[in-house]
Amino acid sequence: MQTTRTVRLARACFQNLITTGAPLTPLPSHGFATCDASSRIVQTPAHNTTTTMLTNVAVRLISVSEVTGTSTSSTNCADSCVWKQRRPHLTSGRQVLDSTPFIHTQQHRKMSSSVAAKQGLVAVEEARRFMVDCLVKAKTPLAHAKQQADLLVEADYRGHFSHGMNRLEMYINDLHKNSCNGEAIPAVLNETPATAWVDGNNGLGAVVGNYCMDLAIRKAKEVGVGWVCAKRSNHYGIAGWYTLRAMNAGCIGMSMTNTSPLASPTRSKEAALGTNPISVGAPGKDGDGFVLDMATTAVAVGKIEMQRRKNEPIPVGWAQGPDGHPTTDANVAFETACLMPLGGTELTSGYKGYGLGAMVEVFCGILAGSNYATKIRKWTHAGADSEADLGQCFVAINPACFAPGFEGRLSDLNSILRNMPMTDPDHPVLVAGDPERIHMAKVDKEGGLPYHVNQIKTCTELSERLGVKPIEQ
Ligand SMILES: NC(=O)c1ccc[n+]([C@@H]2O[C@H](COP(=O)([O-])OP(=O)(O)OC[C@H]3O[C@@H](n4cnc5c(N)ncnc54)[C@H](O)[C@@H]3O)[C@@H](O)[C@H]2O)c1
Repeated sequence: MQTTRTVRLARACFQNLITTGAPLTPLPSHGFATCDASSRIVQTPAHNTTTTMLTNVAVRLISVSEVTGTSTSSTNCADSCVWKQRRPHLTSGRQVLDSTPFIHTQQHRKMSSSVAAKQGLVAVEEARRFMVDCLVKAKTPLAHAKQQADLLVEADYRGHFSHGMNRLEMYINDLHKNSCNGEAIPAVLNETPATAWVDGNNGLGAVVGNYCMDLAIRKAKEVGVGWVCAKRSNHYGIAGWYTLRAMNAGCIGMSMTNTSPLASPTRSKEAALGTNPISVGAPGKDGDGFVLDMATTAVAVGKIEMQRRKNEPIPVGWAQGPDGHPTTDANVAFETACLMPLGGTELTSGYKGYGLGAMVEVFCGILAGSNYATKIRKWTHAGADSEADLGQCFVAINPACFAPGFEGRLSDLNSILRNMPMTDPDHPVLVAGDPERIHMAKVDKEGGLPYHVNQIKTCTELSERLGVKPIEQ
């Protein structure tokens, strides 16, 4: 009996996508292709709109349907195939489709980048080693230094360089000035089966955050939901770190933090709210997931720092100058320290970003009884003279308490979104978390983290200042 495999391809550009044993055949640039019993891919004209062949571009298998006689079985492959670079010219028709799963974090990936990095890159393990050494020199116990370093390395690995190594010096400065206590251990102040109010005791953000999210996960496993609020915490890095922790435990995670005032409410020229990030993470099938992790301002302030580090301008709509009007000068933006809310001006609905930033305050500063809005100390890279007393919120939800099959439907949602018709054929539709996945795959492929030369310079200065082994490239 003849078995026909219908292979639906991503509308992303691809080159020479051939299933195992298939001879080289021209393929449509998007739509469907059919693979017969000998695995030879042929085009399905009904769905074929163009036959453009592109070289050395990304490819992704979306689904495979096997038709045997009258029965059809379908396998959705969107969750199990990752963007792949293909060889520019195939002379032989034999190629095996790689089906590396999407994976959330470095903890769950094979860390090819932990081996010695190529020149100009820093191996992930070397970056972590450097961070741990620096933190330990700043009066932080090894276990806490490791937690903080894991968080920072993850930020760089995911492509959020503003919140990785770039933040290390700020933490060190705070530790040296005793405005943050590297030894502090959080404590529960009030608890119910589903909730906890925690005192972070002015500890490192990662230590407080990990403690709170782990507590929320435990509660979600026991009673379906865990909602934990912390006061007296410090800068906790990428909000997504905590939701990934929940996802890796099979839960939906949510996390928010308030931060030093850096964003103006709509119609004001002065900052009253922080960049107040929100992250929501939900697990899909086979390591796929939805990982929204965003500042409620147009950008995180770290992105302005990065532009400044590189001596490059910022786009209009990121930040205001002292007169309250948008500026493109990264130095002016940095000095003024007044970002625009997500959405920009009132005309472009910036009041929605302003509303989200204020909502974060409701769940963080107000609920936790910490500092909030203008009551939070001013943001400083040089080290603060007073405790930050930030408020943070960590939520875990056990999807097993709701409709069965959450992960499958989440992956299906992702597939629907990823397969929507593209405006630009070179830019496939992504879902939240995909840019970070693509970045992690790139770091793995290239064998290290591509720190900017000015970042390496800062690390060298830090190593001299603290007397630790310089970072190796
Ligand atoms: N701790 C703090 O004080 C603080 C403050 C602000 C921001 N942050 C962190 O800074 C990091 C960067 O924040 P950001 O707002 O600049 O992030 P961003 O704008 O780079 O990304 C925001 C979200 O959009 C998604 N995304 C990006 N491009 C997409 C596309 N084309 N299609 C679909 N989704 C897409 C990303 O996956 C991410 O979930 C975050 O990790 C955030 O938690 C921390």
